[in-house]
Amino acid sequence: MIITIGSTKGGVGKSSLTVNLAAELARQEVRCVIVDADPTATSETWGRDRGERSPECPHVTVTPLRGAIRNTLMDLEEAYGTVLVDVGGHDSQEFRQAGVTSDLLIIPATTSQPDLDSLEKVSGLLEDFKTFNPQLNVRGVFNRIENWSDGRLKEARAYVSGDFPEIPFYDAVLHDRKAYQDVMRVGKGVIEWTDYKAKAEFQVLVKEIVDGQA
Ligand SMILES: Nc1ncnc2c1ncn2[C@@H]1O[C@H](COP(=O)(O)OP(=O)(O)OP(=O)(O)O)[C@@H](O)[C@H]1O
Ligand SMILES: [Mg+2]
Repeated sequence: MIITIGSTKGGVGKSSLTVNLAAELARQEVRCVIVDADPTATSETWGRDRGERSPECPHVTVTPLRGAIRNTLMDLEEAYGTVLVDVGGHDSQEFRQAGVTSDLLIIPATTSQPDLDSLEKVSGLLEDFKTFNPQLNVRGVFNRIENWSDGRLKEARAYVSGDFPEIPFYDAVLHDRKAYQDVMRVGKGVIEWTDYKAKAEFQVLVKEIVDGQA
């Protein structure tokens, strides 16, 4: 299975979701590889830090790939079973090639209006992806929800389901938590950290993702 974590918006949590997903799959002993298709190399750096600073954690292979990545993604799927592709926050060759090759595209977004407005651009790309890849499952996930902002989350859900029905959002959400930032420095996932709320909410999301592909 090839899962792309993508958006045309920067800083919405694509890399964070990618590496945390990989850490949870590794804990479940699901074979997987991360493809870092963003020159910013956030996932690649996480993978290096994991090897150096958290050698007690299960190994996660992170492969940098840029440009025409489609054939290599299919080879990696054969070799590893599950491929997680972290793309840069803009329309790119890597995002387009991943979009036409993936089984699932997960689009993280905060509930801020600029993030929600940016879904318009992703939505345009989806039409292209689906022309070549009609099987593509597309889902959104709300990230960095602040604890006090339940009303805002409700509004955001209503907005996306009305304006972007082609991007159904997962019920599970990720809150704004320091743990998501702390773990990056040591190459861990929140499921390997001390914030049990972060761990629990992340595992709920992963279950919804996995069940959605079953
Ligand atoms: N749920 C969260 N709670 C707190 N901080 C978060 C959360 N998710 C992401 N962050 C932080 O937000 C910043 C941006 O996240 P991340 O790098 O994952 O986004 P991105 O979409 O990959 O960005 P880019 O487009 O630059 O690749 C990082 O500092 C990350 O640690
Ligand atoms: Mg990133």
